[in-house]
Amino acid sequence: MTITTVRGVRDILPEEMVVWHALEQSARQIFTAYGYREIRTPLFEKTELFARAVGATSDIVEKEMYTFSDRGGDSLSLRPEGTASVVRSFIENNLHRSLPWAVYYMGPMFRYERPQKGRYRQFHQMGCELFGAEGPLADAEMMAMILRLLRTLQIDDSLTLEINSLGCGTCRAPYREGLFAFLQARQEQLCDNCRQRLQRNPLRILDCKNEGCRAIARQAPAMKDALCVGCADHFSGLQALLDGMGLPYTVNPLMVRGLDYYTRTAFEVTTTALGAQNAVAAGGRYDGLVAEMGGQAVPAIGFAMGMERLALLLEGKRAGKSGQVGNYLVAVGDAATRQALLLAEEWRAAGVPLQMDWLGGSLKAQLRRADRAAASQVLILAERELAERAVLVKDMRDGGQRLLPWEEVAAVLGALR
Ligand code: HAM
Repeated sequence: MTITTVRGVRDILPEEMVVWHALEQSARQIFTAYGYREIRTPLFEKTELFARAVGATSDIVEKEMYTFSDRGGDSLSLRPEGTASVVRSFIENNLHRSLPWAVYYMGPMFRYERPQKGRYRQFHQMGCELFGAEGPLADAEMMAMILRLLRTLQIDDSLTLEINSLGCGTCRAPYREGLFAFLQARQEQLCDNCRQRLQRNPLRILDCKNEGCRAIARQAPAMKDALCVGCADHFSGLQALLDGMGLPYTVNPLMVRGLDYYTRTAFEVTTTALGAQNAVAAGGRYDGLVAEMGGQAVPAIGFAMGMERLALLLEGKRAGKSGQVGNYLVAVGDAATRQALLLAEEWRAAGVPLQMDWLGGSLKAQLRRADRAAASQVLILAERELAERAVLVKDMRDGGQRLLPWEEVAAVLGALR
């Protein structure tokens, strides 16, 4: 019996990497240009970190974490998202002294969800977190940055930016009570799952996908109508800035997000091109989290994008070949092959990108492999070339050939010329 990957987990094969490299490269460029620097946090943390930051009653913590005891008996979890770790790192490294602090990250996250297209158990996010900026300018700029990245990748058609405000400690508690009363009066019509979470997390009922629950949610009081003055100003300020930048958006009063740390602005970028798993980027403010986790009170905002979803969108657009080699060295005969190994090393040291044929055999077989590797030029070293201390350089695009002395190869083919 052969061993396969774990359900919901997949390989990213070399053919797909062109798209992933394009994603990573554009994201690095754009995040850096906006002033973010990269951070790499561990793939696993103490379970308590996620329970406290993401929320003990969130689906992620209740049902989706990969939690295990290590040999010392500590409860650890694979990270289901990146924000909790970044906040931990911010506090642990005393970074409130370096505000504003802006970081980006890329890497795998783990959630035990029901796998389907665009939803995996190991998936990748790239995200940004910005600490210290309180006003809506940071929110608007972050959304503009996400849309710029999507535009650079040419996947900005069929996208919608949705925003909402979730209020703060002052206005959310009374709203929650009102919402609870409204939903309790209609609990018979809610789905089983929502009836269960009515006590613990009534806000989550607002974005249940069940048709019956949605009909009730549409009638329910909306957070955006219950905001305190500070939150209402922040939300209208954000909309004015988005209008000023000409960024189209819709206000979605039913968007509540699945993580408990959000305050004020929440947002999602959705697409109509991916079916049910339609969020390609999502985030929001978490002005209370740093203090809740034991740090000084620092406002913060961030987002993450699902890389598999972006890759699915990009795949349709790009027909690239992966890892195209420039030069491909073919040697025929034992003496030529031994010499080829030495020459290849010499030329590479001089800056020539060069793949050597690994399998040998006839010239014809090697040329076929060079073609499959999408080499642009093939360097042929057979008995005649060996005698002449030269290589025959064949241009695979136009078929042209020329004999090049060994000592000229670096100067003519070196990428670092
Ligand atoms: P999230 O909405 O849970 O937010 O995830 C962000 C994005 O990650 C989603 O919009 C989606 O594109 C992708 N994603 C999530 N789960 C999966 C999955 N199972 N398979 C594939 N893609 C997935 C967060 O994680 C927050 N930490 C975002 C944030 C950062 N908020 C503030 N700062």
